[in-house]
Amino acid sequence: MKPLLFTLFSDGSLLENISKKLDTNITPITLHQFPDEETYIKIDADLKNQDCVIFDSLDRPNNKLLPLIFLAETLRDLGARQVGLVAPYLSYMRQDKRFHPGEGITSKYFSNLLSNYFNWLITVDPHLHRVKSLTEIYSIPTTVVHAIDNISNWIKRHVDKPLLIGPDIESKQWVEQIANNIQVPCLILEKIRYSDHEVEISAPEIERYKTYTPILVDDIISTAKTMIETVKQLNKLNTQPPICIGIHAIFAANAYDELFKAGVSDIVTCNTIFHPSNKIDLADVILNELKHYLKWKEIP
Ligand code: R5P
Repeated sequence: MKPLLFTLFSDGSLLENISKKLDTNITPITLHQFPDEETYIKIDADLKNQDCVIFDSLDRPNNKLLPLIFLAETLRDLGARQVGLVAPYLSYMRQDKRFHPGEGITSKYFSNLLSNYFNWLITVDPHLHRVKSLTEIYSIPTTVVHAIDNISNWIKRHVDKPLLIGPDIESKQWVEQIANNIQVPCLILEKIRYSDHEVEISAPEIERYKTYTPILVDDIISTAKTMIETVKQLNKLNTQPPICIGIHAIFAANAYDELFKAGVSDIVTCNTIFHPSNKIDLADVILNELKHYLKWKEIP
């Protein structure tokens, strides 16, 4: 039996490509908001013993969470055999410890919540830093899909003489692997974050790479301050205009425009969060992992 695909909020190319490859339409859901802002949900499909997959990126998560839980519960209530979640972007991964007395460790509370409602979870390059693996905080089976090969291929096809730059130590895990994949040099910088919108980035030692095209690579672009401050350092050194590559295109407020204004030649992201900068498709790598959970032999 083919799996049933559901979404509440996705409208980008990633889900479209996955549903095409699975040759499965997205099952419609009736979602209604009452005047008092409570949610009504109805599914007109036979769910008995069905494998159900909810596909939604969890950027801007707070308003998404309750409808998501209601959908998972409704599917189960109506007879679904399993309800899995493909969340190409997994939020609440950064507050993974008590940095100051009195703080909540929201990554733990969020993972407990999702673990209660889903049979399994697939996501793309979550922000793993102090927490080394999702198994440390999720009690359900989880799979991490990596965007590294797709990013490497994009750079190989589009950029001559790339120099990869990671703006902080956390980006090292992606940047070094990509550089190694395509056999190009890389530099990892240091970042100090003072507040949500204030970061300081160390100056890169770029003298011997003056003829290269700098490619900044990071997992998340949110306020874009990390990228902007790195671009400013490069501008001071008169490098070629850099290309910025992010896996997850959050772009809070007008971050996208501000990053362009900083003097970049292109902004490229993977399609985990729908955005005009999406140029790297991850449908194939996600589908490979989906196959394991669905055990559906007809998946190409
Ligand atoms: C944090 O360590 C992440 O890897 C990113 O560098 C960070 O989330 C980027 O945030 P922003 O775009 O707000 O500077």
